Formats: sequence, structure tokens, C-alpha cells
Amino acid sequence: MIAALALVVVLTASLGVAAPQPASNSAATDVCAAQSGLATWGFKESFRAYISGSIANGEWMTSGDISYSTPAFTLSALTGEVLFDDAVGELGATGSIRFTGHEGILDTTIADPRLVFENWDRLVLIVDVMGTTQEFVPVDEADVAFAEGDLAAASWRAEGDRLVIEAIPLTLTSQGADAFGTYPAGEPLDDLALSLSVGASCATGIIEARASASAPLGPLVIAAIVLAAVVAVAGFVVVRARRRLRR
Ligand code: HEM
Repeated sequence: MIAALALVVVLTASLGVAAPQPASNSAATDVCAAQSGLATWGFKESFRAYISGSIANGEWMTSGDISYSTPAFTLSALTGEVLFDDAVGELGATGSIRFTGHEGILDTTIADPRLVFENWDRLVLIVDVMGTTQEFVPVDEADVAFAEGDLAAASWRAEGDRLVIEAIPLTLTSQGADAFGTYPAGEPLDDLALSLSVGASCATGIIEARASASAPLGPLVIAAIVLAAVVAVAGFVVVRARRRLRR
């Protein structure tokens, strides 16, 4: 019976997320890490169309490690550390995007973006926000948890020594909605794409770990668990029956 129970424990444990193998990168830890990379993000296509169109007659300017090439901003030189045993950590860039329009009446800047990985499924985009809301209420707020990204719905792949996470759906948080002052919380923003330097073995290891974690249970694994459970119960019944007979 003990052997059968052990089999159940081993099989059940094997269904958890397999930790990626250590990288050959420079992480001071023995797990795979991203310490640099870049992000591309269009902010919100309809907002860019509004700013550059005939209503606002505006433009946007970038500074620092942020640049623009239609249709997206690039956040280059992301630095920090995300550890891919639990997909937790932070990468950030220094720089800003300043949107202007309506002859300067609209003047909003978002700056110093940070991408905080909370787990395999979720990241939060944190920015500083300066400007006014649509109702002309002044805003000057640091570290606004502006948007949340759905990493579970994104597309993950290994590309050489890089981990590429594309089509990350991003939605405005309630703090983001308050600071930006126009769109409601939950408003979809443009998708985010990340290219993170992790080392070749880690890039493939991370993809394999995710794939095995999200793979449905194979029929053999299910059969083995059921069989082990049946053997455990049968063993328990037999042992109890024998004890009763002895009394
Ligand atoms: C002179 C002042 C302003 C005028 C006349 C104005 C006018 C407008 C108009 C007519 C639209 C609708 C555009 C469309 O449906 O295509 C619009 C949309 C919008 N305005 Fe303004 N606006 C002003 C100031 C501001 C300010 C200060 C902000 C602050 C950020 C702002 C943010 C927005 C946003 C986010 C949208 C929605 C864009 C989208 O379709 O995604 N506006 N505005």
C-alpha cells in the first residue's frame, strides 16, 4: 500500500511546472534569468490615430531608451531581472513618450516603464504619468500600475538565445484609468511584445517547461493514477479485513 501511495505522490508531483534548467547566462542564481531585453508596444492604436489625425492635430515625442517606428514604440535596453523558476521579477527602461495635441491643450507624458512579472500568467506595466485628464484635471503620479498583461494568452517561443513573448494582451487597470483620465478600466491597449535575453538553453527550457505545465494530462498518466489509487484502497481494505479476522 505504501508503495502505491508513493506512486500516487510521485505521479502527482510530476504534473507540476517543471523548473527550467540553469542557464549559461550571467545570472548569479542557478535558475534561468532575463536581465536584459526589449519591448515593443503601440500604446493604443486609436489614440495614436486621434493624436495624429485632424481632430487633435498633434504628435508624440520620445526620449531616452524609447523610440518610435510605425506602428510601435520600442523600449530598448530593458534592464533588471526576471527569474524563470517562478517567472517573477522586473525589467525596466528609462525614457518617455509625450503626446501633445489640440495646440498644447492635450499634453500627456508616460515615463520610465517597468514590466513587473508576477507569475507565469500575469505582468503589470508600471509608468509615471504626467499631464491632464480629458476633463483637464492635472495628473503627476509616479509608479502607476497602468496596465496588466495576460501572459497566459500570449505567444511564447525561443529564438536563438532569446525568449520571445508576443501578442501579450494588455488592458488598462483602474489606477491607469484614473491617471490617464479618459478610457475606462479594462480598456484594451495595444498588445505588448517582449524579446528577452536568456541564453539558448534557457530559451528552449522555458518553452518546454511552459508546454509541459499547460499540457493536458496524458491518458497513460491518468490510467496510472487511477490504478495506483485502486491498489492503495484495495490494500487498505485487505489489511483491515485481516486485522478483523485475527481478532
Ligand atoms: C481642446 C480639448 C479637446 C478636444 C476639443 C477634444 C476632442 C476630442 C474628440 C472630438 C474626440 C473623439 C475623437 C474620435 O471619435 O475620433 C476625442 C477623443 C479623445 N480624447 Fe480628446 N479632446 C480634447 C482634449 C483631450 C485631453 C486633454 C485628453 C487627455 C488625454 C484627451 C484625450 C482623448 C482620448 C483618449 C480620446 C479617445 C481616442 C480614441 O478614440 O481612442 N482629449 N477628443
